[in-house]
Amino acid sequence: MATVPVHTLNDGTTSPAIGLGTYPMDDAEAEQAVRSAVEAGYRLVDTATNYGNETGTGRGVRSAGVAREEIVVTTKLPGRHHGYQETLDSFEESRRRLGLDYVDLYLIHWPLPRVDRYVESWKAMIKLREEGLVRSIGVSNFTAEHIDRLERETGVLPSVDQIEMHPLLGQEELRGRLAAKGVLAESWSPLGRGSDLLSDPAVAKVAEAHGRTPGQVILRWHVQLGVVPIPKSGNPERQRENLDVFEFTLDQAELAAISDRAERRLGGDPDRHEEF
Ligand SMILES: NC(=O)c1ccc[n+]([C@@H]2O[C@H](COP(=O)([O-])OP(=O)(O)OC[C@H]3O[C@@H](n4cnc5c(N)ncnc54)[C@H](OP(=O)(O)O)[C@@H]3O)[C@@H](O)[C@H]2O)c1
Repeated sequence: MATVPVHTLNDGTTSPAIGLGTYPMDDAEAEQAVRSAVEAGYRLVDTATNYGNETGTGRGVRSAGVAREEIVVTTKLPGRHHGYQETLDSFEESRRRLGLDYVDLYLIHWPLPRVDRYVESWKAMIKLREEGLVRSIGVSNFTAEHIDRLERETGVLPSVDQIEMHPLLGQEELRGRLAAKGVLAESWSPLGRGSDLLSDPAVAKVAEAHGRTPGQVILRWHVQLGVVPIPKSGNPERQRENLDVFEFTLDQAELAAISDRAERRLGGDPDRHEEF
C-alpha cells in the first residue's frame, strides 16, 4: 500500500499530501469510493454539505476498516448557513449525517462577499474548534484579502484554503500569500475536470518521459508545488493511479511545461460566485 507524506498545519495537526474528492457522487457512490480509497491508502477525504453525500462519506469512513483517527474527514459550510448560530447548527447537521463524533477539517465553502457574513461564521468555527468538535478550521475559495480580514477581525488564521488550481490556473500569487501566512493550500479540480488537460500534448510528453499517466504527472506537479490535490475518482484503479505519485520527480523544465498555458478558470470567481 502506498505511503503518503504529510504536511503539518499551522495548528499542529497533520494532513496527508493528497486526498479523495467526492463531488458529484451520491451517497451510495461516495460510500463505496471512500472505502476503496482508504483500502488503497488514502487518509484524507473531502465532502461538503452541498454535495449531498455526507451520509455516504461517513458510512465509507466508518466501515473502511482503519481507525477513525487515521482519516482526515473534511466537510464544508454551505452559503445558506452563513452566520454565527447558523454555522453552529449547520455543523451539527453535518456531524449527524456523517455519523462521527468530530470532524477533522471544517471549511467555509465560499466567502460570498456580497452576503458579508463569513466573519460571523468564522467566529463560530473557532468555537467549534475550542469545543473539540472540529480539529482544524479553514476556508475554501477565499482570496488573500478575505483571509487578511479574518485575521484582522478574529486574530485566527485558517489552517487550509481549498482553492481552484490545476495547470490552467496556477494560482502563483495566491499560493505565495498563503505560504507566507502558513496556510496550507489544497487544490480542487486538480485534474482540470471538464477541460481537455488530460489529453494535452505537453502533459503527454512529460508523462511519456516518466512512464506515467497524464493524471499522475499533473498530480505530481501539484505535490511539488506544495499543495494538496484532492482528485475525484470513483474508480478503484484510477484511485490507486492517482495515489501513486510519490516515487518520481519532475524537473523545473517539466514543471514549467505543464503550467505553460493561457490561464483559465473552470469554476466561479471567489469575489462574485454565489452558491447557497
Ligand atoms: N471547494 C470547492 O468549491 C470545490 C469545487 C469543486 C470541487 N471540489 C472538490 O475537489 C474534488 C476534485 O475536483 P473535481 O471532481 O471537480 O475534478 P478533478 O478531480 O480534477 O477531476 C475528476 C474527473 O477526472 C476523472 N479522473 C480521475 N482520475 C483520473 C485519471 N487518473 N485519469 C483520467 N481521468 C481521471 C474522474 O472520473 P472517474 O471518477 O470516472 O475516475 C472525474 O471525471 C471534488 O470531487 C470536490 O471534492 C471543491
